[in-house]
Amino acid sequence: MTLITYKSLYGSSERYARELGRCLSIPVSDITEADTEGVGEIIHFGGLYHGTLSGLKEVLRKLGPCTRLTIVSVGLADPGKPQNADKIDNDLRWIIPEEVLRRTRIFHLRGAMDYSRLSPKHKAMMWMLCQFIRRKKYRTEDDQAILDTYGTKIDFVNLGSVNDLARSIQFSEKRNK
Ligand SMILES: Cc1cc2nc3c(=O)[nH]c(=O)nc-3n(C[C@H](O)[C@H](O)[C@H](O)COP(=O)(O)O)c2cc1C
Repeated sequence: MTLITYKSLYGSSERYARELGRCLSIPVSDITEADTEGVGEIIHFGGLYHGTLSGLKEVLRKLGPCTRLTIVSVGLADPGKPQNADKIDNDLRWIIPEEVLRRTRIFHLRGAMDYSRLSPKHKAMMWMLCQFIRRKKYRTEDDQAILDTYGTKIDFVNLGSVNDLARSIQFSEKRNK
């Protein structure tokens, strides 16, 4: 049995998780409430927050010794740029034990951010990040995008991108049979 889980602070990861669940007719649950007993594969969606993925530690705690894992990161940085996808992969590889990595695949999707809905702590973190970027001698394209969109509402969520993910999951399931 396959289970889709998510940990979503502002809703983007949950939207993607529910869309994939609808496409593949697979149950979807917040990782905190998920019963993972007897599950053969977990597909987990989580927002990126400074290089960590929401709910990942909880997933690793609840993962059975042979359970396969698919991680879907949801973040603002464009994963179509290889340097962004590589950075996320490397950050995650630091957290996931070697033995679990052998049965793990990682996908990336783009999320959303509405500054008016951020918690005071997250607002402060974004303010500090902008101060840091303003003082940098050289700004990357992504740095500039963070400054340009500061205080606004950005939404890159594209539920259609879940179709590619669904196809890839179905393809590898056929191969594993
Ligand atoms: C404090 C903070 C830190 C963030 N760090 C990152 C990051 O390191 N990389 C990234 O791509 N997006 C980052 N984001 C953007 C979130 O990943 C994005 O808003 C995502 O859609 C959140 O998903 P969720 O609503 O499911 O929690 C950050 C957002 C906040 C508020």
